[in-house]
Amino acid sequence: MSIKAQPGPTRKTMGQVVACLRCCRGRTDQKHPAVPADWLKAEWRRRELPEKVHLTLSGCLGPCDATNVVLVMSGG
Ligand code: FES
Repeated sequence: MSIKAQPGPTRKTMGQVVACLRCCRGRTDQKHPAVPADWLKAEWRRRELPEKVHLTLSGCLGPCDATNVVLVMSGG
């Protein structure tokens, strides 16, 4: 049995930023600061970053006791 390679992403970027938008995000009732997700997406586009760095607004990334968790991955 052979395993065929899956095609890679067609868009080459310098990296990816993944921001958690789940329970750690903006829970001001739990004393987490608010996260301006709409502003972040608008600024990402305005600064023409989508062609350079992929932005993903994600669910839980793991360290939920931290506030507004972001993962930055570079290179390819
Ligand atoms: S909910 Fe944000 S890291 Fe888990």
